[in-house]
Amino acid sequence: MQIFRTKRTSPNDFEESGLRRCLSATDLTLLGIGAIIGTGIFVLTGIAAATQSGPAVVLSFVFAGLACAFAALSYAELASSVGGCGSAYGYSYAAFGELAAWIIGWDLILEYGISVAAVANGWSGYFNNALNGIGLHLPDALTHAPEVGGIINLPAAGIVLILMILLIVGVKESARLNTVMVSVKVLTIAVFIAVAVFNVNPDNWTPFMPFGWFEHTPEGKPIGVLAGASIVFFAYVGFDAVSTAAEEAHNPRRDLPIGIIGSLTFCTLIYIVVSGLLTGLVPYTELNVSSPVAHALKLLGFNWASSLVATGVIAGLTTVMLVLYYGLTRIIFAMSRDGLLSPGFSTVNPRTKTPVKVIVSCGLAIAAVAGFVPLGELAELVNIGTLFAFVLVCGGVITLRVTQPDLHRPFRTPINPVFPTLGALSCSALMAFLPTMTWYRFVGWLAIGLVVYFSYSIRHSNLARHNATSTTHT
Ligand code: ALA
Repeated sequence: MQIFRTKRTSPNDFEESGLRRCLSATDLTLLGIGAIIGTGIFVLTGIAAATQSGPAVVLSFVFAGLACAFAALSYAELASSVGGCGSAYGYSYAAFGELAAWIIGWDLILEYGISVAAVANGWSGYFNNALNGIGLHLPDALTHAPEVGGIINLPAAGIVLILMILLIVGVKESARLNTVMVSVKVLTIAVFIAVAVFNVNPDNWTPFMPFGWFEHTPEGKPIGVLAGASIVFFAYVGFDAVSTAAEEAHNPRRDLPIGIIGSLTFCTLIYIVVSGLLTGLVPYTELNVSSPVAHALKLLGFNWASSLVATGVIAGLTTVMLVLYYGLTRIIFAMSRDGLLSPGFSTVNPRTKTPVKVIVSCGLAIAAVAGFVPLGELAELVNIGTLFAFVLVCGGVITLRVTQPDLHRPFRTPINPVFPTLGALSCSALMAFLPTMTWYRFVGWLAIGLVVYFSYSIRHSNLARHNATSTTHT
């Protein structure tokens, strides 16, 4: 049985799949910004500044951003040349064959699925605050998971189900809502910058690096600027989701690289400015709260700006969930079409032109996780999964330049193999800075994936069928 191969046999290369081609380069860039700016900048910046990096959290953002920039260039090359269903899954299939593609696809299911559930929990917290602000109070039993004293986190499950309906209705409609919400969150950030720039106290930037570059606490927890980088990396998760829209883009070879690099560049600049200003507004020790950006404005007496930021965060987190949920469904769709998952997941509803079955299955599963599981440290699990995907994408560029030198590459990663190698190394380093427990959980998830692959996928895949037919004919 052939498992590794270098050329795809499944007909995924920019062919028509039944999905509607309706997304422009601008839509894709906005989808990227929709997925990227969220919990990372609005919540984790404060936590990382207070507990890992101090004011040097800005450097943590620079390091994480650099690793992402190298990975984004590799994504852009593969998006423009390999094409297919997009995403690291499709590229790994082309570069390394079915088993590697399965592992990365399984890894992406973890990345996207857990991200949506985790962000839904953060969203629920902000939503409840907003309800309290207008005098409405949901009982604790309906806003907390069983493990933390409630029955169900209803708002978290509810928002996932609302997004499910939106994604069923259509991708263009979802992109339109995304555009509106992205405008709200970018406006929110602009207001923060406008207020913060005139209220910075440079004394707050000293000491700049109170936790050093990389140390361990007596309990063994990694701290320092580099450990901070591996946490705030979560803020960049999502630019890769642009690549999952390959089959719904007007002109994927040109528009995907624009969407990926454009959204990442924009967000990196925003992150550097916002994190620099935030630690200049108040002492970093004050920032270990669930809404540090709004909290800092409140401490300075800007209550109106604080409320506005809280509203922007609700919009911001909604688009993160929307785009990551969308990406998850398109990856499962592609894996199912390649025979690695049940074929039911790759049917397209003829009326809405959306893969309704996979959208509903994912929606119900994520809503259950979001409603019943408190998702404290899962950002780290998302990070390790995403970083692993980035390492493989960088490796894919280097491999395909050797194995398929004549492949048409409208976009080429500069200075190959230096940039992809730097991408793979920097993403591996960020993985190494994550806590040991995160590694155990990640390896556990991959082990379950291998059991599924060897008990189902290996026998039902298009490749297995292709091999069986070849054997019969010879
Ligand atoms: N980058 C996304 C966020 O920060 C996942 O919420």
